Amino acid sequence: MKLLKILTVSFLVLMLTLSVSFAMKNLPEDRGKALFNDPKFAGGSKSCNQCHPNGKGLENAANKKEFKIMGKTLKSLEDAINLCIVEANKGKAINVNSQEMKDLVAYIKILQAR
Ligand code: HEC
Repeated sequence: MKLLKILTVSFLVLMLTLSVSFAMKNLPEDRGKALFNDPKFAGGSKSCNQCHPNGKGLENAANKKEFKIMGKTLKSLEDAINLCIVEANKGKAINVNSQEMKDLVAYIKILQAR
């Protein structure tokens, strides 16, 4: 009987762990991080992470009102991301209201908390 109890508890703990890790993988910032590390994202050939390792240098980006990147001035984080997608990743700009853009922004926002 004791064994059965141990098995039941272990099983429940396992299920809980699995569902928690599943839920965590589906947070917007985690999806954003996956995109950030994907060299094929938006049809590009480089990942954001290759130039911004672990988001380095972007810690303050979520708070900025103006960006100066590669000689251009951008008025929003979304436009800054799209500029990098086009000029740096050699990909195609994505819709500023798309889920992918929201996920990337969510990832960049959590960088400042670290
Ligand atoms: C080939 C290198 C390269 C790649 C790839 C790249 N970037 Fe950049 N990024 C830069 C450079 C250079 C700047 C301007 C200088 C700076 O502020 O660090 C910049 C600036 C930025 C900024 C503005 C930072 C600030 O605070 O002004 C953001 C946001 C950003 N990149 C996001 C991204 C995202 C998201 C991707 C992937 C879609 C990406 N970058 C891919 C080189 C790159």
